Amino acid sequence: MDLRQAATDVRNRAYAPYSGFQVGAAVRGASGAIYAGCNVENVAYPEGTCAEAGAIAAMVAAGETRLTEVFVIAGSPTPVPPCGGCRQKLAEFGAGDVPVTMATTGGAEQVMTLDALLPGAFRAGHMDAG
Ligand code: THU
Repeated sequence: MDLRQAATDVRNRAYAPYSGFQVGAAVRGASGAIYAGCNVENVAYPEGTCAEAGAIAAMVAAGETRLTEVFVIAGSPTPVPPCGGCRQKLAEFGAGDVPVTMATTGGAEQVMTLDALLPGAFRAGHMDAG
């Protein structure tokens, strides 16, 4: 199964009764394995989680902490970019050159690197002693 298929499948299980906006995400771990996640909303709105966060959690739960590819899909007119928080979450586990494919259920796709999505990301090296 490829990333698009995994993200498409999991998107169908998204729990989004409040926004009605279902999102699916899939990441490829360094091992080559694919991990998928969907958005899970909550009646206390800020408690909802994004699809990307779910995919990352599945990857870490499986024992991997590096990702090499990201795919996000939603039913929107233009490819939906990860939110700011998810960009930071993805940067925790992926290098700046990791490609993030943003897709629509209609077939549009846009690819950007993590660096392009989050220029100047706060990374562990910033906490080195000065
Ligand atoms: N959402 C994601 O899951 N990922 C994104 O990249 C953008 C937004 C979700 C959060 C919320 O459940 C819904 O989309 C509307 O913001």
